[in-house]
Amino acid sequence: MLKTGFIGWRGMVGSVLMDRMKEENDFYEFEPLFFTTSQTGKKAPDIGIDTPVLQDAFDIFKLSRMDIIVTCQGSSYTEKVLPDLRKKGWNGFWIDAASKMRMDKESIIVLDPVNREVIDKAISCGIKNFIGGNCTVSLMLMAVGTLLKKGLVDWITSITYQSASGAGAKNMRELLSQMNYVGEKLKELVDDPQTPILAIDKKVTETILSPAFPVKNFPAPLAGSAIPFIDKLMDSGQTKEEWKGCAETNKILQTKNPIPIDGICVRIGAMRCHSQALTIKLNENLALDEICKMIEESNEWVKIIPNTPEDTAKYLTPAAVAGKLDIALGRIRKLNIGPKYLSAFTVGDQLLWGAAEPIRRILKIIVSNESIS
Ligand code: HSE
Repeated sequence: MLKTGFIGWRGMVGSVLMDRMKEENDFYEFEPLFFTTSQTGKKAPDIGIDTPVLQDAFDIFKLSRMDIIVTCQGSSYTEKVLPDLRKKGWNGFWIDAASKMRMDKESIIVLDPVNREVIDKAISCGIKNFIGGNCTVSLMLMAVGTLLKKGLVDWITSITYQSASGAGAKNMRELLSQMNYVGEKLKELVDDPQTPILAIDKKVTETILSPAFPVKNFPAPLAGSAIPFIDKLMDSGQTKEEWKGCAETNKILQTKNPIPIDGICVRIGAMRCHSQALTIKLNENLALDEICKMIEESNEWVKIIPNTPEDTAKYLTPAAVAGKLDIALGRIRKLNIGPKYLSAFTVGDQLLWGAAEPIRRILKIIVSNESIS
């Protein structure tokens, strides 16, 4: 059985990955060994089978005995460990949820329902680094990737509504602290039906802008507001998150002629689902039915939501999709700009298809491939 080392399994993405692997009984398919950056010698997590105690995640010798390493530890760990491992001649598979290696020419960005052919070819060519993509990119491609793959798209703009989880566990807590803070400060005014709504609104604004408001991790208050800037500024004027839309999509699909993609990435007060409003410029006037059929047939997770207020409210919100593998895609219609302009809104769980699931699945692909060969 292939020896598979896990690092960063305790963090948020790592925990989602562990849960999914337990749910799918993945741990029986290889020999798992758990590493830690701080608790060497302690008990390994309960995965239903006996495993040795936790190993030191910086022990290059121990790591180099693994056939596969799966890490959700973050980019600085990757930066510190992977070059050393490769320098020592380690030729195992490196599966990584962090962004560090994504654009490296020796890496493949994995999203197998969309780019399985790219993955299979890479494995057969001896590529060893398989990296999870940016969450908004993966979620967009799970929804409409088939249109790009079929060469039907001239360009896309994506306006995102990104959840707190994309910024990390501390940010999710901060969003909740902010909500609590507003709730506590406003309780009396809200409970009194006589309070004029504009007085309540004024107090909300004063509260979220007050120095005591808990804002340590986000760059500005998020509860009761939105932040239209994610990650750092690039020379192009895009944020890095916006830049990834085009760079990673075209790398995932290995397009010969890159498809232009751009937009504005916005943080909103959702917990763990990213939403995106897409404008897709098609290169032909396809009927909506035909488009929906292609999308529905492209993978088993994308769900077309009828363009009604009831269905939208029930199925096309971050609250409705949270914790599910479904990729909801609705509000599909042609814009009145012209028959080649398609509009749609999509929602997906940032921690599942946006992070852990592509990692879980590439591990299975590599394990089954290696077991055959
Ligand atoms: N960068 C994303 C975000 C999450 O901030 O929402 C990671 O893909």
